[in-house]
Amino acid sequence: MSISSMNSLREYFLKNDKRLIHKWDHYFEIYDRHFSRYKGKEVVILEIGVSHGGSLQMWKDYFGSKAIIYGVDINPSCKELEEENISIFIGSQSDRNFLRELKSKVGKVDILIDDGGHMVQQQIVSFEELYSIVANDGIYLCEDVHTSYWLRFGGGVQRSGTFIEYSKNLIDHLNAYHSEQKSRLDVTEFTNNTDSIHFYDSVVVLEKRIKSAPFHLKRGEIIIDHVVPEKGPAKKFLNSILIPILVSFNKVLRFFRLPSIYWK
Ligand SMILES: C[S@@+](CC[C@H](N)C(=O)[O-])C[C@H]1O[C@@H](n2cnc3c(N)ncnc32)[C@H](O)[C@@H]1O
Repeated sequence: MSISSMNSLREYFLKNDKRLIHKWDHYFEIYDRHFSRYKGKEVVILEIGVSHGGSLQMWKDYFGSKAIIYGVDINPSCKELEEENISIFIGSQSDRNFLRELKSKVGKVDILIDDGGHMVQQQIVSFEELYSIVANDGIYLCEDVHTSYWLRFGGGVQRSGTFIEYSKNLIDHLNAYHSEQKSRLDVTEFTNNTDSIHFYDSVVVLEKRIKSAPFHLKRGEIIIDHVVPEKGPAKKFLNSILIPILVSFNKVLRFFRLPSIYWK
């Protein structure tokens, strides 16, 4: 292992002889990349999936004594793992009523980690219900999304209903300001509240930020004329006949989601 891939989370994990932690090795770099700005701060973390409680203790060590940590698990025995700064709620991450009750109890969280049952439907329901409780500059991290490719978790390559396919669609919503087909894709709360979506092996991370319509700018002097001038009847034919026909034809292709013809 290179020195650069060693961080305090991985170090803690490798030395851990307290409660069991179960993570894939490459997650530690992802966590540290997105979470390090919260170290030592008054951060609120919610992790779905408590198991033996080891990861909750790891977050406590990593973020420090000001961190408030919530765990969620379907197994009632997990309630016994509560300790100072760690509270645990018992319920299912696919039970919308439970999640709504949870929301009213925890308020806003800075970091939400889904490491629960990993069924694709569970991941989607939890995201739909809980993305709104992530703070305006917070982070939603769903891990083990490789289950989107595993049959027994509801997965399959490009299979509808998987978390991976669901999150691919979120890319469209992130770019909705640029949509010319508002009936198909329009700006939503997600567009205005999401800064970025990061896809890693097995992990999807969403970073939130309040946004408004994007705009572009130009600065500096124009040096080269890039437009090749068409002259006389050729220009007339191009502008009044050919281009309108090609635009209409391209709209039909777009309707059927077929590749565009190229005429520029
Ligand atoms: C992979 S373990 C969590 C590991 C832990 N975060 C760690 O890093 O050591 C998954 C946990 O999710 C819980 N779980 C399974 N289905 C669930 C559901 N529908 N709602 C909430 N928790 C669930 C299981 O009881 C189990 O404790």
